[in-house]
Amino acid sequence: MLEALKAQPQDKILQLIAMFREDARTGKIDLGVGVYKDATGLTPVMRAVKAAEKKLWEVETTKTYTALAGEPAYNAAMQGLILDGAVDAARLSSVSTPGGTGAIRQALELVKLAAPAAKVWISLPTWPNHPSIIKYLGIPMAEYRYFDAVSGGVDFDGLMEDLGRVMAGDVVLLHGCCHNPTGANLNADQWGKVCDLLAERGAVPLVDLAYQGFGDGLEADAQATRLVASGFPEVLIAASCSKNFGIYRERTGILIAISKDAEAAVITQQNLAFLNRQNYSFPPDHGARLVTMILGDAALRADWMAELEEVRQNMLGLRQALAEALRAETNSDRFDFVAQHRGMFSRLGLSEAQVVRLREDYGIYMVGDSRINIAGLNAQTVPVLARAVASVL
Ligand code: LMR
Repeated sequence: MLEALKAQPQDKILQLIAMFREDARTGKIDLGVGVYKDATGLTPVMRAVKAAEKKLWEVETTKTYTALAGEPAYNAAMQGLILDGAVDAARLSSVSTPGGTGAIRQALELVKLAAPAAKVWISLPTWPNHPSIIKYLGIPMAEYRYFDAVSGGVDFDGLMEDLGRVMAGDVVLLHGCCHNPTGANLNADQWGKVCDLLAERGAVPLVDLAYQGFGDGLEADAQATRLVASGFPEVLIAASCSKNFGIYRERTGILIAISKDAEAAVITQQNLAFLNRQNYSFPPDHGARLVTMILGDAALRADWMAELEEVRQNMLGLRQALAEALRAETNSDRFDFVAQHRGMFSRLGLSEAQVVRLREDYGIYMVGDSRINIAGLNAQTVPVLARAVASVL
């Protein structure tokens, strides 16, 4: 049986982790996978997470199964964090999932279960695992233009033209904030126009919210998701706690489904729990429990928010510094968009060959499409990257 298997393409982002590890050069720079690093290159355990873990160790008396959909308190806390009452709670269903990827996977499984013929539209470009899972599940897929490589901003005319072809019942995958891989985002006015168009077309939005708190702030980053949530009869929201709580390996995410009314939400909830049972039964609990403790305790929550804000400000500072360094090194404003982008990533607009040269000649690792993880930089490496980029242009 197993000899029938074919080799699988390696994930282009995860592949970089191994390549970087094997590089013996000192001074190598990792701008690959989307993991936050502080100025010393460490991905810290956040203070509130440590405190919650300590408390949990003291008070936890059992590790028996929790609910199939995950702990109800976690689901409620996350609904609050993301939606803050934007939708009548009776219309919400949700399940705890293994990370944001688990939420995306369960969302697509739900689409397949409910509407096997529905097409899923993804932005061009998008996180490579989106099309990978869609294809794996055999779901019809279409792309809409998103990025303007010349300006480094959103190709809004192209996006509106392509989304104008969405058919009723099609699912449109939107990045709630901090677009991955480009870093270019819609403004509030554009979000309004996209919502109007998609509502008119009868689309079902699927929002991927993996970086809440990494862009313009915890509340600001949820605004687009709340706008979408309140403007459609049906919406799916896949959110991750990996980045904003820094609990990557704990695999903590949530899928929230908004149904047209409370009655439909009951059936949706049953189907979400069913999908959990089919795929992995009970979702992981440790990370979800920490998140619940932090969101439910005023002091822990305040400390978490303060540290998340430090993380965000650090990335904004690095963006500013990198844009200035690139301006000085290249004698042009070509890379000014880096300061306007939000979230962990920016797509620099370099060719594959230039990306390879940066890796081979300078030990600077970025994804092949020239996506950099801003948080992989620090005050010392910003000028190094700027000089290297200028030299390969
Ligand atoms: C990324 O895009 O680098 C992150 O979302 C990590 C991942 O799983 O790809």
